[in-house]
Amino acid sequence: MTKDITDIRLTELSPLLKFVFTLFLVMIGVSYMVSMFNLYLTYHLTDGDPGLTIEDLRRSFYGNRNQTLLASKIDGGSMEQYLPSPGAKEAILSWIQDGTPKTGFKEVEHIFENRCVRCHNPNGLMWKRPLTTFELVKEVTVVDRGEPVSLWARVAHTHLMSLAVVFFGLSIIFSLCGAGQKMKTFLMPLPFLALFVDFGSRALIKYIPAFVYVMAGAGALMGLSMAVLIVAPLYEMWIRGNKVKPES
Ligand code: HEC
Repeated sequence: MTKDITDIRLTELSPLLKFVFTLFLVMIGVSYMVSMFNLYLTYHLTDGDPGLTIEDLRRSFYGNRNQTLLASKIDGGSMEQYLPSPGAKEAILSWIQDGTPKTGFKEVEHIFENRCVRCHNPNGLMWKRPLTTFELVKEVTVVDRGEPVSLWARVAHTHLMSLAVVFFGLSIIFSLCGAGQKMKTFLMPLPFLALFVDFGSRALIKYIPAFVYVMAGAGALMGLSMAVLIVAPLYEMWIRGNKVKPES
């Protein structure tokens, strides 16, 4: 007689396998929470206000196209906090409005030196974006178009690949639950689909900013479906236990 893996129930597994499944589920749950914290830290200051909002995401992925990258960062953006002295922000903004002339740079150079270069230098926190010379500052006075495609590609390929493995593991474990077949057919492919829509819409925000809502919705759906795939097997293994009725 052949036996399918899905004929086995979680409650019938050896204690060792239950233990390992539990470790996997808990670890995935914890790493998901850490990734949400990382998301918050990365994007919550984009619009200059605390709290992660749709506006933060829109600005990060579509950009703030009425302004240059530099202006959007110092005027209601995440770098404004480093310009507390009155007039400094206005001096830089008016230099940008004048068309970033080399001669006028002398008047604002000291602001960059005193306020920005401690992070924006080749050995600093923002070594990728040094602001130590006129030419380098000029590079950030282009229109703010949000996340570059290269960054999307870097984040997307690692997430799609690693999360596919995670979702595969979660689905297999969930398939051993006592839940009904309809529920399984609905829930098991859901996080894969949500992940695909999440990164697909993140790429499209550049062209159609309203996709930021699709991305946020897909992200929420992915989190919710993962939560169910994690909590249900834990509940069944450790709380509901052998009271589970076999499927008819
Ligand atoms: C404490 C360190 C720190 C200081 C000081 C600082 N920055 Fe930044 N800057 C960062 C970090 C981190 C980022 C990336 C996160 C972000 O964009 O909010 C960044 C991003 C930027 C960007 C966007 C770069 C890009 O390629 O996307 C600009 C422009 C910028 N800063 C300008 C400034 C200016 C102007 C000042 C001075 C008024 C300043 N920064 C002061 C840390 C700093």
